[in-house]
Amino acid sequence: EKGGFDHFMLKEIYEQPRSIADCMRGRLDVKSGRLVLGGLRDYMKKFQNAHRIIITACGTSWHAGLVAEYLFEEFARIPVEVEYASEFRYRNPVINERDFVIAISQSGETADTLAAIELAKSKGATIFGVCNVVGSSIARATHAGSYTHAGPEIGVASTKAFTAQISVLSMMALMLGYQRGTLPEGQFIQFLHELETVPAKVEKALALNSQVEEIAKQFKDVRNFLYLGRGYNFPVALEGALKLKEISYIHAEGYPAAEMKHGPIALIDEEMPVVFIATRDSSYEKVVSNIQEVKARKGKIIAVVTEGDTMVKKMADHTIEIPSSHEAFVPLISVIPLQLLSYHIAVMRGCNVDQPRNLAKSVTVE
Ligand code: F6R
Repeated sequence: EKGGFDHFMLKEIYEQPRSIADCMRGRLDVKSGRLVLGGLRDYMKKFQNAHRIIITACGTSWHAGLVAEYLFEEFARIPVEVEYASEFRYRNPVINERDFVIAISQSGETADTLAAIELAKSKGATIFGVCNVVGSSIARATHAGSYTHAGPEIGVASTKAFTAQISVLSMMALMLGYQRGTLPEGQFIQFLHELETVPAKVEKALALNSQVEEIAKQFKDVRNFLYLGRGYNFPVALEGALKLKEISYIHAEGYPAAEMKHGPIALIDEEMPVVFIATRDSSYEKVVSNIQEVKARKGKIIAVVTEGDTMVKKMADHTIEIPSSHEAFVPLISVIPLQLLSYHIAVMRGCNVDQPRNLAKSVTVE
């Protein structure tokens, strides 16, 4: 059942080239330049004319929502808010029929997300679900939705569901931008091509497994970890830290790299490993200066960089080179080594990777 892998988590990490391709199959047709999400068809006008997009979710799904905020705002120029479902539902939020709400959930059973949906519905908003489990409560409670088609996720730590969520949200953002005219046809087509190359790039990132395992050996006994990224890689930093803490029980924090100097920098000494997601994108130079700041304080730097990088390589203690991609789709690739890093560290610490203590796959109580 684990397909020759020691744990479901590792199996699911390795499934990602296929699960991302499955998610795009029948939806993305590069040859004809078409992108179709069946679930969106009847609600496309509402989506296009929305005054605001509100994304609500918990945990890893909330991180996928943060990536979507960057995607929607960049491609479609509609303001986006990303809300923890548990906060949103109890805040008496301002919401009306011109809002388009996207609820993201792997299990489709998360109690807080379900309650957030019911609240938004009662205020007249349109609710769109991005769920993995077919026929789940959230899938049924929404007006429409698109399934992520990642297949069953058994490991409690979410991996392939996360990349499938981002895949669906990327397709939604491209469709929306194209329909609204904020994303010109030429660019739209280019992005379709780019998206189609993602599974092969994820495959290449998985080939870094033994290198990541070596790095894990050196850091398995530390007490703390920092994860830093900017732009599209900021949510990836949060996700990397969440993966590590939930399965290895090492305290980890994710931050937007520039926020470091507003507090977390005080933590840095020669004992502190800092994972930078420093791919070649619009914030690269800025991240490089953040790396310098950590290096000056003797922090240990593990950097996820773009293939062929030289600048960060000179500064970091360890670099992990991933294939290059347009920055909008980098999270799908840059998260892979972070999933592997947390997996190996947890295994080396003797943790129960697939069923970490105190956690459940579906959080059906608030
Ligand atoms: C992280 C994790 C949790 C879930 C969260 C939301 O690895 O598993 O943080 O992401 O409980 O669950 P869903 O997506 O099922 O609503």
